[in-house]
Amino acid sequence: MSKDDRVQRAGFPVSAMAMALGLLLSVQASPLSAQAWLVGNSRPENPDQYPAYVTVIDNPRTDLTYAKDVAPILQENCVKCHRPGSVAPMSLETYEQVRPFGPLIRERLIKREMPPWPIDRTVGVTHYKNDPSLSDEEIRTVVDWVDSGAPLGDPADLPELIVWPDERGWEFQDELGPPDAIFQSPLYNVVADGMDKWPTPRTPMEEAQIAGDPVTTDRWIKAVAVRPHQTEGRYVFHHANPALIMPGEAMDPMEAEANSIKLIDSAVGTEGRIYPDDQGRLIRPGSLISWGLHYHPYSYDVEAALQVAVWFYPEGYVPEHYSMGDVSLRTGAETHAAGFPTRSGAGDPSGRFHSHSDIIIPPHGVTTIKGVHVLDRPAMVHSVRGHMHMRGKYQVVEAVYPDGSWEVLTKLNWDHGWHTLFLYEDDVMPLLPKGTVLMMSSTFDNTTENPHNPDPRQWVTGGDRSIDEMGHIRLGITYFDDEAEFQAIVDERRQTLAAKSMVSR
Ligand code: HEC
Repeated sequence: MSKDDRVQRAGFPVSAMAMALGLLLSVQASPLSAQAWLVGNSRPENPDQYPAYVTVIDNPRTDLTYAKDVAPILQENCVKCHRPGSVAPMSLETYEQVRPFGPLIRERLIKREMPPWPIDRTVGVTHYKNDPSLSDEEIRTVVDWVDSGAPLGDPADLPELIVWPDERGWEFQDELGPPDAIFQSPLYNVVADGMDKWPTPRTPMEEAQIAGDPVTTDRWIKAVAVRPHQTEGRYVFHHANPALIMPGEAMDPMEAEANSIKLIDSAVGTEGRIYPDDQGRLIRPGSLISWGLHYHPYSYDVEAALQVAVWFYPEGYVPEHYSMGDVSLRTGAETHAAGFPTRSGAGDPSGRFHSHSDIIIPPHGVTTIKGVHVLDRPAMVHSVRGHMHMRGKYQVVEAVYPDGSWEVLTKLNWDHGWHTLFLYEDDVMPLLPKGTVLMMSSTFDNTTENPHNPDPRQWVTGGDRSIDEMGHIRLGITYFDDEAEFQAIVDERRQTLAAKSMVSR
């Protein structure tokens, strides 16, 4: 069995448990029409189209040149990061820069490791709004070009070099224009002493705002994006969970702190989230921003701060649905986390969120922990993001529906460098009826096969440091209090999918 087979198969040990649960639940089946929600939640139109690794075909093309065929692909998909002053280690702007990296580029592309998109594309939902992946055709073009000696070709064919603005761009800027407001955390010097830091500054929103008009009335958030205030900040940025502590009445009784709402849960590699139309979150003037930062030192001191950009719905506009935004679900046995609203039905709201006491990984061992969450209201899930540390291998989200049927929604292949926030495409955002059991699992690899493993001889337990472990999954969730309204959305989805003649069961 190849390594990939193993990874593939290991994703399913929960299925037996899921089936058992499904059977239990089917006894008290939901009044909703059977399987109404299985509307393309996870069925790729053509599973063969999404191989985990591209199979490079025989008889490769030999007529490909850098100038004509390869440069346009790299310009469009790589140079954004692979240029001076951006996040990647080397530039890929010119033939001279690219050529020596040919074999390495080939390898990274075949494994689909670049552009970063750490998800298993053979199971679960396959359509994401922010998927930067190359097509198989593009990968083959680059690979065949490397294999045929990486010729330059006719320089006259070279595409024009993209001129990058000095200003670093924001996610969503193309769609939504410049952000309406940008907030920045206080500067913090991350000294290179090897110790993780958790500064917890709280700043009045007006003080933190560095761009845009001051927020003077209640405003609804359409999208949020984050970035370090300068490029090097990326080296030390582990994560941040900036939250607004709002004056006035609690917005949602289910928030962990009654009057506090998360702006976004972010970590290195996360760029932003955009809410589906007519869904959003509220920002009130006079709020405090609680930054909730975690820095991990680099080999030299780095001055760091986090910037958060916000796009609002038009002034006075109130979207129909209040979204919970990122809801953090533990994958451990103690699933009753503070991050998950008590109304989830998951049980004890005691909030031992950070204990992670159920994570114990032996030296040279591979361990899976699992958690179960029951939805007490219908929900739409618009995004998913994992969180583990250096021993993380993969995380799986599965749904057992009230009629007992079951499917994998997403399997995240963990990469500690890329805490990507995966935004489901509109037509495949999982629609989960009341009573759905979400099964979440995290698998840790403490062996030498894990390239990020700092020391496989150690016992590893749960904890906050990067060398300890965590395992939770954040789902971007909007709940529906009105079941009929949810049913209407399910029906609409069915029609859309039927019109597109996608598969639905
Ligand atoms: C979102 C930013 C981003 C994009 C887009 C991106 N890269 Fe990268 N790339 C990085 C970063 C950061 C690293 C170093 C960390 C890592 O390996 O994950 C890297 C590493 C690499 C490496 C390995 C370098 C080494 O010395 O090990 C190769 C090869 C590579 N990228 C090729 C590509 C190609 C080809 C593309 C386009 C098809 C691409 N990258 C797109 C950010 C990016």
